[in-house]
Amino acid sequence: MRIAIIGTGYVGLVSGVCLSDFGHHVTCIDKIEDKIGRLNRGEMPIYEPGLDEMISRNVASGRLSFTTDLAQPVAEADVVFIAVGTPSRKSDGHANLTYVYAAAREIASAVRGFTVLVTKSTVPVGTGDELERIIAEASPKADVAVVSNPEFLREGAAIADFIAPDRVVVGMNDVRARDVMAAVYAPLDAQRHPVIFTTRRTAELTKYAANAFLALKLAYINEIADLCEQVGANVQDVSLGMGLDTRIGQKFLNAGPGYGGSCFPKDTLALVKTAQDHNSPIRLIETIVGINETRKRAMARKVERAVGGDLRGKTVGILGLTFKPDTDDIRESPALSIVQALLDKGAHLQAYDPEGIPAARQMMPELDYKSDVDSVAEGADALVIITEWKQFQHLDFDKLKSLMASPVLIDLRNIYKAEDVRAKGFVYDGVGHG
Ligand code: UDX
Repeated sequence: MRIAIIGTGYVGLVSGVCLSDFGHHVTCIDKIEDKIGRLNRGEMPIYEPGLDEMISRNVASGRLSFTTDLAQPVAEADVVFIAVGTPSRKSDGHANLTYVYAAAREIASAVRGFTVLVTKSTVPVGTGDELERIIAEASPKADVAVVSNPEFLREGAAIADFIAPDRVVVGMNDVRARDVMAAVYAPLDAQRHPVIFTTRRTAELTKYAANAFLALKLAYINEIADLCEQVGANVQDVSLGMGLDTRIGQKFLNAGPGYGGSCFPKDTLALVKTAQDHNSPIRLIETIVGINETRKRAMARKVERAVGGDLRGKTVGILGLTFKPDTDDIRESPALSIVQALLDKGAHLQAYDPEGIPAARQMMPELDYKSDVDSVAEGADALVIITEWKQFQHLDFDKLKSLMASPVLIDLRNIYKAEDVRAKGFVYDGVGHG
């Protein structure tokens, strides 16, 4: 198969590279010349374990290439994937489809022969219909079947998620596209990685329904964690006791500072809007959007309590800025709100993150960035773990104690057992430990 992918962001790049690894001929296209230039020089625009090795292997085999020019690869393609960004619109939280529609117009004038156009970007229900209309208007003779094939990959585990997915969802209204999409995913073992064929609107909604459900699970366990703190219970044991019920499942039951990232905050908001627009509001999701927002700032109050109630003039060491480990992404990271709330309370902050500092510097220039854990601990009145990087999982508490002004650890990811840290002479607080 010849495949063109428009957009080399997280989803586009990982999908393109993995599809070439399946054996297809893939061209990844992006308007940003610098990004394509870097990819062609073998430099990675994102941090994702295993991606660089997979890119060089497939570039060397001649199956993967990068370009800024859409016309030729799209003309030759059997399948064109749109994987451009769909950020939240500032005005109303709806998904901003400007980039998707602009890509569709360009594709419409470049396609030759029957072509399957697939949205990989997360797009609201009905976007496929609108794409069909745009293509018919831009290029009435173009023979294009519009398909929805949402991507469920997680940052940090993106390659494994793409090549060994729990499922692939493909939605279409044109039967000709079914065989083409079946061929795209033919290298997957269908028993272990089923491809579900459905209508286009169903596929579009499935993605939002799945992400919002996971966000709901997180918001729920986070509220249970708060209750644990009030009634003297332990949320980790509650999670275990709940999660071993296979109907519930153990994943996404780790209480923490609230969810972040490029998907959950955006997709929950977009689902809320779509549901309201169709006069079928989903109040559960409306509620968790608010719960998650207020939770992040509430974490700063936890820090305030741990240092005795007043942060003015205190130095707080921040460990972890990215929204989760194994990524350099700080988009919607809980750290952004927590840091702001701590600054508002008068704290001086020194921070370290293994991969997130370049992005963090742009969004939070006022932080004092350090190059390792020890420098963050130096003179600090408290350390706060915001992201559970593996570098933070075996801290040398004796050393940290000697470096800090006062030994206080607020572990917002429950990496440590309270008794172990307290035995080292620290004041310790986690999440959901009553
Ligand atoms: C998510 C979905 O998992 C993925 O299927 C979709 O395609 C994109 O959105 P991602 O945003 O990469 O992926 O991260 P994920 O691992 O799902 O974590 C999202 C947020 O939830 C993070 O902030 C993470 O720290 C938080 N989280 C996750 C918890 O707080 N506790 C958990 O138990 C799991």
